[in-house]
Amino acid sequence: MRKQQSLRMRIALAPLRIIVPPPFPKRPQIQARRCLQVKKLRVALACSTKDGLRKEYAERFGALENDDEPPPPDFFAEGDDPATIESVAGAMRSAGHEVSILEGDSGFPAMLAKCNPDIVFNIAEGLFGDMRESFVPMTCERMGVPCTGSDPLALAICLRKSRAKEILAWRGVPVSPFRTFSPDDDIDISGLSFPLMVKPVSEGSSKGVFEDSFVEGRSEARRRIREKISKYRQPVIVEEYLPGDEYTVAVWGNGRDIEALPPVAIKFDQLPPQSKKIYSYEAKWIWDSEEKPLEIFECPAKVSAGLGKRIAATAVKACECLDIKDWCRVDIRLDREAVPNVIELNPLPGILPRPEQNSCFPKAARAAGYSYDQMINKVLSIACRRHGIA
Ligand SMILES: Nc1ncnc2c1ncn2[C@@H]1O[C@H](COP(=O)(O)OP(=O)(O)OP(=O)(O)O)[C@@H](O)[C@H]1O
Ligand SMILES: [Mg+2]
Repeated sequence: MRKQQSLRMRIALAPLRIIVPPPFPKRPQIQARRCLQVKKLRVALACSTKDGLRKEYAERFGALENDDEPPPPDFFAEGDDPATIESVAGAMRSAGHEVSILEGDSGFPAMLAKCNPDIVFNIAEGLFGDMRESFVPMTCERMGVPCTGSDPLALAICLRKSRAKEILAWRGVPVSPFRTFSPDDDIDISGLSFPLMVKPVSEGSSKGVFEDSFVEGRSEARRRIREKISKYRQPVIVEEYLPGDEYTVAVWGNGRDIEALPPVAIKFDQLPPQSKKIYSYEAKWIWDSEEKPLEIFECPAKVSAGLGKRIAATAVKACECLDIKDWCRVDIRLDREAVPNVIELNPLPGILPRPEQNSCFPKAARAAGYSYDQMINKVLSIACRRHGIA
């Protein structure tokens, strides 16, 4: 309470500074084009390169080389590599669109104003905070530029796994029981049944989800919670472990046209013996490499028609509950009673281009008969339809 009062006082006493942003350029030509069933679009591909993320880190904490406490090696796992960016851009160029590539960093608003595209194809994930994935669509919203994928609110909620799970639970979508812990919290995990999973609350690409995230005892859990809070500079989510089979489901389309692609099953028996049955950072990025891809996926998953329907329906309902737009990948795992539970939603799904890279959205699209280029252009056309562009 005292903390709140002093904060209010500080706000009251702070000198008033109003910064007037420059007006954004009017966009009459876009409005006109929107009515003209445009075929050839000017697309800005917004991305977060690994170099861009390192720069973002350096702006906040100084150069990486001078860092006494360097970030863990998985810290930049969400960055886009040049091959992915070129493949996404190439796919749209092959369909006749003009594509510019923009870094989704602090320079993005100015670059977007300069570029003035018909639409932004967004794959930018940023580095810090719950709003990191929202920055590009928020800027687009502010500047009146259409953007692919979910809006800033949905992206932020899905990124903070605990918020997404609260909404899903409220709407009757099964999720495993959980709790979150911030640096100053007392760690009380009573009421949760072991084993537990300890994960940074707002990350993806298995950043912070290692074999050691799976914990079976109270003191181990406390230790792991503290370690992950300090390493990843954010709260952690502690969830009951779902012991059943795991699937990931690519979903695309909007409204009545929403569609689940064939589910991908994750085959944990392909991982090294004794490893945990989780799709950890080790499994995703170390044991399964492009040079030696593991046969870790089965797509379409061999499941009974009934289970297949339940998995797809859970994924679609999760997307509807969280107001997902255009595309998303939903991670699902069966509980003790074989009920599909949602682990988390990925409204900016990984789209590594080469099949050996084992990226699940492209894999599901391939199983449904779409090449990589067709998949990217389908997402673009779904977004264009939603925005009334083409
Ligand atoms: N509650 C849970 N029960 C069982 N396994 C879990 C649970 N939470 C996470 N896992 C395992 O850890 C993996 C990674 O977790 P999660 O999907 O939350 O991480 P992520 O970094 O968001 O992944 P992504 O690469 O999909 O962005 C899951 O695919 C699953 O195998
Ligand atoms: Mg996941």
